[in-house]
Amino acid sequence: MKRIGLLTSGGDAPGMNAAIRSVVRSGLYFGMEVYGIERGYAGLIDNNLVKMEMRSVSNIVQCGGTKLRTARCLEMLTKEGQQKALATLEKNGIEGLVVIGGDGSFRGAKVLSEYGVPTIGIPGTIDNDLAYTDYTLGFDTAVNTCIDVINKLRDTMTSHERVCVVEVMGRHCGDIALYSGIASGAEIIVVPEIEFNMDEIVAKIRSSRANGKHSNIVVIAEGVMSAAKFAEQLQAVTEYSVRPTCIGHVQRGGSPSMSDRMLAAQFGNKAVRLLNEGIGNRVVGIHDNHIIDMDIIEAVSMKKAFNYELYETLQMISM
Ligand code: F6P
Repeated sequence: MKRIGLLTSGGDAPGMNAAIRSVVRSGLYFGMEVYGIERGYAGLIDNNLVKMEMRSVSNIVQCGGTKLRTARCLEMLTKEGQQKALATLEKNGIEGLVVIGGDGSFRGAKVLSEYGVPTIGIPGTIDNDLAYTDYTLGFDTAVNTCIDVINKLRDTMTSHERVCVVEVMGRHCGDIALYSGIASGAEIIVVPEIEFNMDEIVAKIRSSRANGKHSNIVVIAEGVMSAAKFAEQLQAVTEYSVRPTCIGHVQRGGSPSMSDRMLAAQFGNKAVRLLNEGIGNRVVGIHDNHIIDMDIIEAVSMKKAFNYELYETLQMISM
């Protein structure tokens, strides 16, 4: 394979730039030409390509966001959009493609694979909602950002003896809430995978106060409801003062953590190694600490399993 393309798509995630660097440098190592496609599938449809050289990716390993920019492209869901995307690839002689993004982006990659374009997906999303990989790129950094915010909230909540309801992202997946809740010592997490019981939540808050606690943190995943709405419901049934905070897009930005940089380096390199061997239609990931690859159709059809043991751990150790 002599010329490959690369795009980032969907919500950005810390570590995407490090993955771009890895793909570009690995491609150049194998003697390939690498073209960056700007603004995800929108740029593929509109023929927005830029040739990437060794120095195009200097000084970006530490940067949040994506140098290639990104978009959520509804046109890629249509036959017409898909034909335009294929035409761009053909016109520019792109023989293989690397797509960095989440499940929506992988669906686009699957379509291109089905049209015969060797495509490799790199899981880049803070949500950690892809079943086939233990971790997605950006999740670790996003969780660390949430932990940092929750630590600060704990200070003021303790001073005022309040309850804070903190909303984190994750779409339909509760992993950001689960991991940031455990790691910040939150007493309660509310996730889409488990139905919540307000009486039990209030009972837990009361028993913690009876045991000498001066504040409580409830981490709620956006897929359940907003922090503002949940705080209102909780305030109606508790004697303690409740305040909502939505962390929002802060958790999508920032310099990637060591874990995300390591994943980015390995995912990017693996993706290019596969293309170099003429292998397409795969996604790369990590399982049991090993970098893996899997058929793209199989990967997108897998259902993510929630980690109930971790949830129980929080119940047992945070009170
Ligand atoms: O998929 C990443 C994500 O940050 C989700 O957690 C969130 O629901 C969504 O994107 C927000 O999208 P946007 O930035 O388009 O508002």
